Amino acid sequence: MSARASHSLELQSVSRHFGGLKVLQDVNLSIPQGGIFGLIGPNGAGKTTVFNLITGLLPPTSGSIRFNGQDLAGLRPHQITRLGLGRTFQNIRLFKEMSLLENVMVGMHAHLGYGAFGLLAGSGLFRSEERRARERARELLSWVRLEHKAHETADNLSYGEQRKLELARALATEPRLLLLDEPVAGMNSSEKTELMHEIRNIHARGYTIFMIEHDMRFVMGLCQEIAVLNFGRIIAQGGPEAIRTNPQVIEAYLGREDDEPTSAAAQGEPA
Ligand SMILES: Nc1ncnc2c1ncn2[C@@H]1O[C@H](COP(=O)(O)OP(=O)(O)OP(=O)(O)O)[C@@H](O)[C@H]1O
Ligand SMILES: [Mg+2]
Repeated sequence: MSARASHSLELQSVSRHFGGLKVLQDVNLSIPQGGIFGLIGPNGAGKTTVFNLITGLLPPTSGSIRFNGQDLAGLRPHQITRLGLGRTFQNIRLFKEMSLLENVMVGMHAHLGYGAFGLLAGSGLFRSEERRARERARELLSWVRLEHKAHETADNLSYGEQRKLELARALATEPRLLLLDEPVAGMNSSEKTELMHEIRNIHARGYTIFMIEHDMRFVMGLCQEIAVLNFGRIIAQGGPEAIRTNPQVIEAYLGREDDEPTSAAAQGEPA
């Protein structure tokens, strides 16, 4: 089908059950190439599970996931990474005792398929290639404005900086599509504003971005298209304005005092 060629990621009737728990039910999503796409919804709605299925950490119970036309069924996570899908995790996963530069270079390894520590030990790569990798890592750190800390260890970073380091490391796998799971969780408001700017710049460099996020100002300000997941089902999809005013979305997520979305939806900036 020709429509597929213009879409970078497609989920068709994807379901995932854990025993009797139907965490995702018949999810259809189409992430167009080149945009910034958002996935929102209450805690436990199944958002991270969507990412886990896309990246091959879990197989779907049923349905299909395609990336640029290729069916991802049966592929291992590192094979999916190599197809150009990079991700960050909701719970930060860094090597805290390693430098920022090393953390980013470990991300490159996952992509290039070298033994995880070969490059750091100075083996397995020619010097010129190692220098190139180092330069690229430094460049990626500069994209998230952390290059001045390249030689510090990751455990010296603030929480917000650790999230940005994770982003640089995901970029090190040279993804075409970048999946971000709650990129601003735990950040203060000036860190959020800064990251918004950095993500815009990364997007402008040609990356397609698909993010899960609870911060409505952030989501509404960045995404052209947003899907809303509730109890494992997509209940709405559209531009920020359509989502903000959708009665079902307000009822399920935006309008509830006791849930997590921050910065009232009404404050969302235009994309
Ligand atoms: N590997 C697993 N085994 C069993 N249950 C799981 C597994 N992964 C997720 N779940 C369950 O699936 C449901 C959805 O979890 P998921 O992490 O996808 O939600 P989420 O939308 O990302 O929530 P949050 O906003 O809190 O991050 C939860 O009830 C969770 O306990
Ligand atoms: Mg989650």
